[in-house]
Amino acid sequence: MRYIGNKNKLLPFIDAFLDDMGIERGRALDAFAGTATVGRYLKSRGMEVVTCDILSSSYAFQRAYVVTNGYPSFSRLIADSNFQSVREDGSFQQMVESRFAEQEELFDTSSDEARALKEVLVYLDTVLASHAGFITKNYSAPHEGQEGSRMYFTEANARCIDMIRGQLHTWQKGGSVDDDEFHLLLACLLEAADSVANTTGVYAAFVKTWQSNALRPLKFKIPLLVSSDNRVCEALQGDVNQLIPKLGSFDLLYLDPPYNTRQYSAYYHVPELIAEGWFDEEPTLRGKTGLVPDEHKKSQWSSRTDCVFALEEMLKNADATHVLLSYNNEGIIGENDIERLFKEFGLTHTYQRVGRDYKRYRSDSDNQARNYKGNRVTEYLYYVRLK
Ligand SMILES: C[S@@+](CC[C@H](N)C(=O)[O-])C[C@H]1O[C@@H](n2cnc3c(N)ncnc32)[C@H](O)[C@@H]1O
Repeated sequence: MRYIGNKNKLLPFIDAFLDDMGIERGRALDAFAGTATVGRYLKSRGMEVVTCDILSSSYAFQRAYVVTNGYPSFSRLIADSNFQSVREDGSFQQMVESRFAEQEELFDTSSDEARALKEVLVYLDTVLASHAGFITKNYSAPHEGQEGSRMYFTEANARCIDMIRGQLHTWQKGGSVDDDEFHLLLACLLEAADSVANTTGVYAAFVKTWQSNALRPLKFKIPLLVSSDNRVCEALQGDVNQLIPKLGSFDLLYLDPPYNTRQYSAYYHVPELIAEGWFDEEPTLRGKTGLVPDEHKKSQWSSRTDCVFALEEMLKNADATHVLLSYNNEGIIGENDIERLFKEFGLTHTYQRVGRDYKRYRSDSDNQARNYKGNRVTEYLYYVRLK
């Protein structure tokens, strides 16, 4: 998923730093999990991982990529007579054989469980008939430039999203899928929808003409999952500053908070809607981009007046040995404040800051709203061992 601050490209940097510090095993908290990229990596490194984020879409990724231990069996769904009759069709089986060839070259999807997931994904994105619903009505346009319509998805893709999200809801309510299966399918849907979203990466604006990615039909991919012997990983949704006092002790506390004053809940309101659904009560949308009420998801870390306090509270309440913070040179918490607080709550002589230059993540709205100095940004890792 395209996500501001996604640490995918920075994993080797984090990996090398943890190696240098000899941080190998133990319990880790990925406190601002986002796409769960770092949580999944820490799990693959051998750690017992707890992840947290304020967003519901992140919770789906955390459940799918960190908590779930390998592909689930989908046994109840597969046993269902409707599904059985589709499976018996030779052309369905051929579609399942050919659809994921690209990914099968990258990782092993030959297990019975992976096969079951592939069948469910093809059933959802190819066999079932799409229908218009909340997303189609509010976030799609039938053709270019239609007055007043929000061009986040083509009508065809929006209808698919409506149908698939509705089907997941029905399966969850009816007990046809368990929690692991539901969140894995939801994460697949969020990724697939994002890959055909007519945005430049964030949902703060849609592009006024159709981009080539948006015109492709929505198709699922099979995700790479990490299994972990008997380590139990956990996903949480909420304000991590409020949760941290109750989470117990960690060997590693990894912090990757927002760097600027833009709230993630507003940047990713459409994935949030897809994650939460609209089945009990449809939310009231506002403005050109169809924003949803998000007061309860606003973060202190994105407030110039509160961010230093948020870091201070975090360090004060955390029960952790090693603290590692990802932050860049344009973040709203000043470098001096980070150093001061890390030295106040940590062992001064252990304090370190290492930097790497990276190509900046840009979206169109960034270009309009901000005047950046260049295309490069320095990503820092701040480290301290807590007292
Ligand atoms: C820089 S992003 C993290 C990116 C993530 N490491 C990744 O690789 O995808 C910051 C994240 O912090 C979350 N967030 C902001 N304030 C929070 C809070 N008080 N508690 C928990 N999560 C918060 C945002 O929703 C966002 O997903």
